[in-house]
Amino acid sequence: MARHLLLPVVMLVISPIPGAFQDSALSPTQEEPEDLDCGRSEPSARIVGGSDAQPGTWPWQVSLHHGGGHICGGSLIAPSWVLSAAHCFMTNGTLEPAAEWSVLLGVHSQDGPLDGAHTRAVAAIVVPVNYSQVELGADLALLHLASPASLGPAVRPVCLPRASHRFVHGTACWATGWGDVQEADPLPLPWVLQEVELRLLGEATCQCLYSQPGPFNLTLQILPGMLCAGYPEGRRDTCQGDSGGPLVCEEGGRWFQAGITSFGFGCGRRNRPGVFTAVATYEAWIREQVMGSEPGPAFPTQPQKPQSDPQEPRENCTIALPECGKAPRPGAWPWEAQVMVPGSRPCHGALVSESWVLAPASCFLHPSSSDSPPRDLDAWRVLLPSRPRAERVARLVQHENASWDDASDLALLQLRTPVNLSAAPRPVCLPHPEHYFLPGSRCRLARWGRGEPALGPGALLEAELLGGWWCHCLYGRQGAAVPLPGDPPHALCPAYQEEEEAGHCWNDSHWSLLCQEEGTWFLAGIRDFPSGCLRPRAFFPVQTHGPWISHVTRGAYLEDQLTWDWGPDGEETETQTCPPHTQHGVPVAAAVSILTPRICHCLYQGILPPGTLCVLYAEGQENRCEMTSAPPLLCQTTEGSWVLVGMAVQGSRELFAAIGPEEAWISQTVGEAHFLPSSGSPHWPTGGSNLCPPELAKASGSPRAVHFLLLLTLLIQS
Ligand code: ARG
Repeated sequence: MARHLLLPVVMLVISPIPGAFQDSALSPTQEEPEDLDCGRSEPSARIVGGSDAQPGTWPWQVSLHHGGGHICGGSLIAPSWVLSAAHCFMTNGTLEPAAEWSVLLGVHSQDGPLDGAHTRAVAAIVVPVNYSQVELGADLALLHLASPASLGPAVRPVCLPRASHRFVHGTACWATGWGDVQEADPLPLPWVLQEVELRLLGEATCQCLYSQPGPFNLTLQILPGMLCAGYPEGRRDTCQGDSGGPLVCEEGGRWFQAGITSFGFGCGRRNRPGVFTAVATYEAWIREQVMGSEPGPAFPTQPQKPQSDPQEPRENCTIALPECGKAPRPGAWPWEAQVMVPGSRPCHGALVSESWVLAPASCFLHPSSSDSPPRDLDAWRVLLPSRPRAERVARLVQHENASWDDASDLALLQLRTPVNLSAAPRPVCLPHPEHYFLPGSRCRLARWGRGEPALGPGALLEAELLGGWWCHCLYGRQGAAVPLPGDPPHALCPAYQEEEEAGHCWNDSHWSLLCQEEGTWFLAGIRDFPSGCLRPRAFFPVQTHGPWISHVTRGAYLEDQLTWDWGPDGEETETQTCPPHTQHGVPVAAAVSILTPRICHCLYQGILPPGTLCVLYAEGQENRCEMTSAPPLLCQTTEGSWVLVGMAVQGSRELFAAIGPEEAWISQTVGEAHFLPSSGSPHWPTGGSNLCPPELAKASGSPRAVHFLLLLTLLIQS
């Protein structure tokens, strides 16, 4: 992975305690290691559920500094040798000078004076000749220290596996490092070494997980010499800055290094486990590089060969499905949270993880006391679906821009006790910043903030998401400013047809926007723009706040995009112009085909005045009730200009009076009207036989029967 991705920091996760570790850590092995005691660490009492490592637990862990900061991890394998990842030291295909690096040993917290830690200069860095990029494997490096490390309780080497060593799939192992704690979210001060328990995954399982469609166009091939560890459901993983660090497994009272943190896709995402360099594969290469060092690394024989052959490919690949966003039916939202603050109306929000509720900050900001939120959290309660009692609130974190920016009107409330997630309560899915809600996505409204009473009319309205450009155009016509489409978007516009029809206007704009992908609901937008009665509504997108939400909660359900069918092209924004508009200021257009005069004549049995144009609506557009009753008929020339071809015949959506025959009269009256030369406008043959085909005579009045006889397809804007 590119060096610029390696942030000077640490690691992801949520780690329970390794239960078996305490009892077995010091039990003797059957076989003595070759020349160096390895893989022993101090037994330590750990904090349950914590992710900070205890000092002395991982004495082989080193921090590699470059330019004054932590860049990568590494492991001490012999007094003068550190094992790490090749990609940590490569820039544009060349190895960086060893002299620019230093190795910190025996470090726990990287903040302040590094008590008990010591530093070594690097004399040489060796990388396999066949290393080119992480995805192609061989991502390992050996650092020869300028002088041996001084071994002690906090600085000890790890054991290396022989090429014949078999790590059983499913084994719980541990990864350690100072890398990011979430994607693009550095480890906070005091930069304490993090540990996470990861399960070894077989190659077939890993390949199968990576073959699932996802946010990165993946064609990842798991190669020999690579090893995957993590969970199909994600959530525990290494991340940027952990690279080069060890993945260790305990066997017979010693810790063996099974892997070197190498790469992944995002961090902790579903079906995207971390990929490690399989150390055993490189026994010969490591031995060759360290030859002559005394003492060299220890490769103890495997204490106990696993019973079954762990390499057998009959493992089951259980693809993880989203754990958020499932609702029994629209409107019955299992994440619906009501925050009860004494003295005010309930405020509606959404459960986003076991412990956090997202709600509008404006519910809790007191207009009088400006920005300071109330402190009496003791009296606050949160009602969640299917919970016998109301939850208590431990903390309120407001978005830093909440008090002046409507788009950031967000607060997170931490529950005192995490709730058990099940069918209800269940968190809603949140989008990553790069999420693209496809135009046409199915959306619904959910109550948000101090909204309407429970049975308000909005909650069950179904909507279709409009493209960003279309949204911008609709608002432009109404004189309101809605930003141009962007990436990420500045607005999300769902079109609520029923609302149009009902013709009423909700002054109360306290709704959030939920959009569905593959049966999973995302909280896509919050409270609509202060747009009064403008239609459709436009919502502020939530996706831009994903990083803030995951930073605060460390476990909100940010879910990858689940639909990937963009169609042939994405939405083009640069060359588009807004289409013309109709009587209500809302342009609506439908694609139609102009029928030949003969078919038109036959269909309407000769009752039409000469020059009448008949059109056939494109599939699915026949019943667009929002079409005005007298739309103009426009055709686009091959050069791209729009030509007014017909005016609707009163009372019909299929019949148009052709403009062509009136050219003389129009030019006389208007003077400046532009007419295309007749070759440039759509033409249709005149004359010919006047006999109607037999199947048409029967089908008269039903244009759908003549689908196969279309002359010309004229797409206006659908
Ligand atoms: N390449 C990263 C680094 O240089 C390590 C990324 C590991 N990512 C993961 N999802 N496991 O620090």
